[in-house]
Amino acid sequence: MKHLLSAAQLSRDEAVAILDTTLDMAEVRTRAIKKLPTLRGKTVANVFFEDSTRTRLSFEAAAMALGADVTTFTAQGSSVSKGESLKDTLQTLEAMGAEFIVLRHAHSGVCDTVVNSGWVDAHVINAGDGTHEHPTQALLDAFTMRTRLHGDVSRGRDLAGFAVVIVGDILHSRVARSNIWLLRTLGASVTVAAPQTLLPREIESWGVTVESTLDDALDAEPNVVMTLRVQKERMSSGYFPSESEFSALWGMTSARLRRIGENAIVMHPGPMNRGLEIAGAVADSPQSTVTDQVANGVATRMAVLYTVMGGSR
Ligand code: NCD
Repeated sequence: MKHLLSAAQLSRDEAVAILDTTLDMAEVRTRAIKKLPTLRGKTVANVFFEDSTRTRLSFEAAAMALGADVTTFTAQGSSVSKGESLKDTLQTLEAMGAEFIVLRHAHSGVCDTVVNSGWVDAHVINAGDGTHEHPTQALLDAFTMRTRLHGDVSRGRDLAGFAVVIVGDILHSRVARSNIWLLRTLGASVTVAAPQTLLPREIESWGVTVESTLDDALDAEPNVVMTLRVQKERMSSGYFPSESEFSALWGMTSARLRRIGENAIVMHPGPMNRGLEIAGAVADSPQSTVTDQVANGVATRMAVLYTVMGGSR
């Protein structure tokens, strides 16, 4: 695999292999010397046209843990303000030696455009393109589910038999899209719950069950409830009546946490709107995997860099 453009591109076996490599990388992270020399002498360019905390920092940490040199480009403060195109920006970074380009951009489908137009020879990894995909987030989420729900015997396994509820702003969420594709590939069943206004029109063709409220979705006793950030920056207005009505019907509250089994987990990709899609007490509870997801993000991105450079287990 030369590039990771989407979760939809992954077969079951490719995805399980990345999860198994992630387990190896997580083991490296527990050693006294937390580094491998795999990418020594290579340069990874993190190219971020949209804001990010977790994704950017964890790609930096992952590249450094594999011994790479890291260049970070953010659109603010660059020649993008002078009208420089994406193509010229990427070719500039490649001319400076970047062999891996980790790209986040507001335009859905941009990573496919970069690869299909042949603008660069570098390995391209999608770090979030508009409302389209965020494949490394789906992989770290799948790794978190597999680790929490299968425990020590997770190696080699997929997510068959797990029931996952994804709730909230599905319409604007690349995290939801990538998770839906990957979870289905890994054999999990997926239910989405959202106001009608925050569901994409084509949802019926995605192979998921659709419920209109979170309480209806919880009747199926899911193993995982994945909450999503309400993406106010992608909304004009009027997607739901008010924030209190949103959390009453689609928020993961303490009362709803009591409804799911003790072994079920609650996820959130971050950044959270505490009190809106997830109550603070739920985010801080032992059933929350929010900080596990961040920690697993570094090992997952190490595994992805390793896989696209041609490594296999
Ligand atoms: C997400 C993103 O940017 O797609 N955050 C992340 O990568 N952890 C989700 C979001 O912004 O809501």
